[in-house]
Formats: sequence, C-alpha cells, structure tokens
Amino acid sequence: MEIRVENLVKEFKSFDKTLVVVNKINYKFIGKTTVITGASGSGKTTFLDLIGLLSKPNSGKIFFDNVCVSDFSSKKQRDFIRDNIGYIFQSYNLIDSLDCRENILLGVHGKPDMEFFDKLVKKLDIVGVLDKRPNQISGGQKQRVAIVRALIKRPSILLADEPTGALDEKTSKEVMELLFSLQKEYGYNLISVTHDLDQVKLFESVIRYKDGVILDDKQ
Ligand SMILES: Nc1ncnc2c1ncn2[C@@H]1O[C@H](COP(=O)(O)OP(=O)(O)OP(=O)(O)O)[C@@H](O)[C@H]1O
Ligand SMILES: [Mg+2]
Repeated sequence: MEIRVENLVKEFKSFDKTLVVVNKINYKFIGKTTVITGASGSGKTTFLDLIGLLSKPNSGKIFFDNVCVSDFSSKKQRDFIRDNIGYIFQSYNLIDSLDCRENILLGVHGKPDMEFFDKLVKKLDIVGVLDKRPNQISGGQKQRVAIVRALIKRPSILLADEPTGALDEKTSKEVMELLFSLQKEYGYNLISVTHDLDQVKLFESVIRYKDGVILDDKQ
C-alpha cells in the first residue's frame, strides 16, 4: 500500500499554550519498511497514531493508495483499521480483564487462523502465559503478546512503536527477524519507531524526527 501524508498537523492545547507536535508534514513513504527515530517527546508516537487513524489531525490529509482515509467517517475508519492495520503500541494496551489468549484474538475479525496463532505464540515463546492476564506477566511478555495481537490479523500496514523496547538483546533480534520475514511473506508496510541504532540499518527508509518535523530521510 502506498502511504502518503499531506500538510499534516497535530497540536495539543492546554490552557493558553499550544504544542505543535506534527508540524505541516508532507511525506510519501517509499519502500515497504520505514523506521522513525528521534528524541523522547519529539512526536513519534503522535505521528504514528495519526497514520494508524487513532487520532484526528488538526489539519492535513492521509492517503493510502491515493485514497484519502483521513476524510473517512469514523465508522469507515474503524472498519478500515479492523481490516488493515496492526498496531504494536508502545504501552502495549492490553486489557487486564481478559487473558492473553483473548487479548490476542481480539485483534481478529471473523474466524482466527489457529495454525498461524500457534506458530506465532511458539515463535515468540508465550505459550506459557496464554491463560494468564496481562497484570500477571512481565513487561517483555506483555510486549510479545501485543506483537502477536497485531500480527495475527495479517495486517496490510503494521505500525510498531518501539516494539522491542522491553526485550533483551537476543529476543529483540528474534522479534525483528520475525517482523521482517513476515513482511516478506505477506508484503505489509512496516513503519516502526526505535531508539536502537542497530535496528535502523534493517530498514529501507529512515526518518529522523525532531520537534514536529522530519529533519531528513534516507531512502
Ligand atoms: N494526548 C496528549 N495531550 C497533550 N500532550 C500530548 C498528548 N500526547 C502527547 N503529548 C505531548 O506531545 C509530545 C510528543 O509526544 P509523543 O508521545 O508523540 O513523543 P515520542 O516521540 O513518541 O516520545 P517517546 O520516545 O518518549 O515515546 C510530548 O511533548 C507529549 O507530552
Ligand atoms: Mg513514543
């Protein structure tokens, strides 16, 4: 899918102050894998949330394959997200009243592919936590549950916000290998955020983000 944003703006207002976190960004994602880097607080998550249609821009447009998805009605956006977007959240966003298996399957519309489910939970080594609730497992286990939840629906766009932030070096490497091998197999667009310089070189395009603008990109 071709992803493009046009004059994208996102501001947060508090009292009399306005913080411009995405400042008139024009960008066309080239290639299938892009990584976003930048200092903490620079706006990476905010930018990713806009692309994932999770928050509304103050102005500007988002296009997927030249269709302006930011103009869709809320209902149409929800359907689009359900059918196309996998999101690995920086803070996992798991639901504590459900066990991990239920959390993962929440990402699936219709009948889940249990063979794929088994493959993913084995690969990410979370078979032993499937019956537990998120508040009973470690941060790294939560992160891996969140990764499977995003992958299980076979998204056409995978947004990954520091997907290995809670993982050790070896597991991080395995997770990135999985995201890239599935990318090759299913062809999704992968847009990921990281602070890990070793990871950056895996991606076709690199965006350096600062104070609401893209400083430069390498493609
Ligand atoms: N809902 C919100 N309301 C008000 N301000 C917000 C909101 N969300 C984010 N911000 C502010 O916007 C700025 C960018 O936040 P964002 O989470 O996008 O940064 P980030 O680059 O992802 O940082 P990190 O690397 O720490 O995850 C920060 O100053 C943050 O405090
Ligand atoms: Mg962030």
